[in-house]
Amino acid sequence: MAARLEREGASPRAQDLYAGAGTEFYERLVGPDRAEIREILALARGAAGPILDLAAGSGRLTVPLVRSGEDVTAVDLSDDMLSHLRRALPDHDRVQCVVADMRDFSLPQRFGLIVIGATSITLLDRAGRSLLYANVRRHLAAGGVFAFTVAGGASAQSLLTSTDQEVVVPGLDGDDTYLFSQQIEEGGTARLVNWVRVCEVVPGSEVTVFTSRLRLLDHELLARELVDAGFVRPEVSPVRTPHGVDIRLLTTSWAGTAEREQ
Ligand SMILES: C[S@@+](CC[C@H](N)C(=O)[O-])C[C@H]1O[C@@H](n2cnc3c(N)ncnc32)[C@H](O)[C@@H]1O
Repeated sequence: MAARLEREGASPRAQDLYAGAGTEFYERLVGPDRAEIREILALARGAAGPILDLAAGSGRLTVPLVRSGEDVTAVDLSDDMLSHLRRALPDHDRVQCVVADMRDFSLPQRFGLIVIGATSITLLDRAGRSLLYANVRRHLAAGGVFAFTVAGGASAQSLLTSTDQEVVVPGLDGDDTYLFSQQIEEGGTARLVNWVRVCEVVPGSEVTVFTSRLRLLDHELLARELVDAGFVRPEVSPVRTPHGVDIRLLTTSWAGTAEREQ
């Protein structure tokens, strides 16, 4: 991607995928994706107590949960992402949006189900995940369930190699072609992902590069981390997805007894 921009005489301007114009692009890229919703709704039906959707973003999971009658607290670092959710459920009394870091939050309620969708746990490094597990533990009601997703199988393998390719992204005014670049970094433990709209790459232009950095994690590593953090070894089940994308749902609960640090 860098070579192409240089060849065309265009200069990059980085834009976080989850802020400002990045949120509109994320909506186009992921918003229509229904993956995980069926599985999370099934968990919600069995949950005792309200639901906490961490890294809730524009509400891809929160919205169907609320529409099916659940009380949901949606936490996200980005107020811009949450503003899409607020627009989808204006003044709804079953949803509460909280701008907070999933590594560091404190809410008055305890939750029967805590979820993290769209493999967003990979946004956190090891230290961040430790903080997350401690916060989840503090916010789980007795018998509560913690569930999150991560890529598996061939889908996880495809995340391990650097790549540049053109992708078609749907939009209100039709499809757009973007150049997508995935760069493996930090000794193969992280990947930097970037998207650039191809038609913006013209001589002398300043091009918006939507960007995010993610960790490369598999369910076995995450299962070990959960057990080390005091959770029950998670059940790992496949998420039904279109186009054969391999996503795994990890479901666990606190392994300890009633004695919990508050
Ligand atoms: C891939 S999106 C997932 C959004 C939504 N859950 C879904 O399923 O489409 C990741 C979200 O994580 C949020 N995020 C990133 N780091 C975060 C953090 N440390 N704490 C809370 N949210 C965070 C971003 O703002 C973004 O909305």
